[in-house]
Amino acid sequence: MRFMSSDEPFLSFFLPDIGDAEIAAVVEVLRSGWLTTGAKTKEFERQFAERLGVKHAVAVNSATAALHLALEAIDIQPGDEVLVPTMTFASTAEVVAYLGAKPVLVDCLEDTLCIDPAAAAAAVTPRTRAMMPVHYAGQPCDMEPLLATAQRHGIKVIEDAAHSLPAAYRGRTIGTLGDATCFSFYANKTITTGEGGMLVTADNALADRARIMSLHGISRDAWKRFTAEGSWFYEILRPGFKYNLTDIAAALGIAQLARCDEFWQRRSALARRYDDLFADVAELTRPTTRDDVSHAWHLYVVKLNLDRLSITRNQFIDELKKRRIGHSVHYTPLHMHPYYRDTYGYQPGDLPAAQRTYERIVSLPLFPKMTHAEQDRVVSAVREILAEHRR
Ligand SMILES: Cc1ncc(COP(=O)(O)O)c(C=O)c1O
Repeated sequence: MRFMSSDEPFLSFFLPDIGDAEIAAVVEVLRSGWLTTGAKTKEFERQFAERLGVKHAVAVNSATAALHLALEAIDIQPGDEVLVPTMTFASTAEVVAYLGAKPVLVDCLEDTLCIDPAAAAAAVTPRTRAMMPVHYAGQPCDMEPLLATAQRHGIKVIEDAAHSLPAAYRGRTIGTLGDATCFSFYANKTITTGEGGMLVTADNALADRARIMSLHGISRDAWKRFTAEGSWFYEILRPGFKYNLTDIAAALGIAQLARCDEFWQRRSALARRYDDLFADVAELTRPTTRDDVSHAWHLYVVKLNLDRLSITRNQFIDELKKRRIGHSVHYTPLHMHPYYRDTYGYQPGDLPAAQRTYERIVSLPLFPKMTHAEQDRVVSAVREILAEHRR
């Protein structure tokens, strides 16, 4: 029977799970008289660091800010090169450009869509100062060869962990491997503060510099200057940024962090259920999961087997849209975007695995509050579209 599309409500790609505890925590801050960075932000940092087992956690207002601060703190300069996977969001590469350095785009592995360690090693030049692995969809990159390349060439590793709270690689928590790791609390991430991010590191100097630069480059604990124990006196050490997190957001973050495992269990169970429900569908390839990682399951990304279909990925998405199913594509590879194409002269085929995979990928709805009925609706729609357009 034909799927009756127009009567169906829109099924969101993602919905945050905000409970009474989160709302009460935010209201408490609103009533407290202290709205911006303060005791709640410090508490969020303390709990986040403790959870991950890292020495320093610096709360900021986005993962983009955290990535920028991490690169600034390792002193990336104009003319330096930084390895960035092409299969990522705008942020990972733009922060390199903020500092006048060159993002050198690296191809992905076709199965996990994480950075290809061999391609990363081959892209190192005498100007390479850092690499930025992105744990795509929440699945950790193959960190051992990446860390070995970094060590061999004396380059820093700044991990983009926007998708990967909580995750682990060979039993090691993501956040404890590279020189610095950056998490996102954007509205559709695995925990949210609306907008927010966290930089974690074991390196005292890196943490100090990132903290200072996150608030105008002002000497230590600038946020305390309006408190009873603070002082009006401050000194500007460098021209910094305005990247601090508010206590309103931090209160939300503390309450969400307490539910991080609950959310993760729900998303993991839904991902396994998608896997089961798609097991007999030859027209798509389910996500590849390495057996030496714990996957955060931020995204569930399927690949269409286009050789078995008479439609393209974009036509498939048009069909999903008609059925009012939320969806996305993660990502159009950076090297195919006008800025990177025109500035650095990339051709689509220069990073062939990313280009080929891009043409096949679709991200399906996945969020902790998603019901089995909602998931069944997604699965029926996908199966129906594929059956109608089987070659
Ligand atoms: C891979 C990746 N890196 C960085 C970011 C940036 O996160 P934020 O929005 O917190 O700056 C995102 C956000 O979507 C992302 O997906």
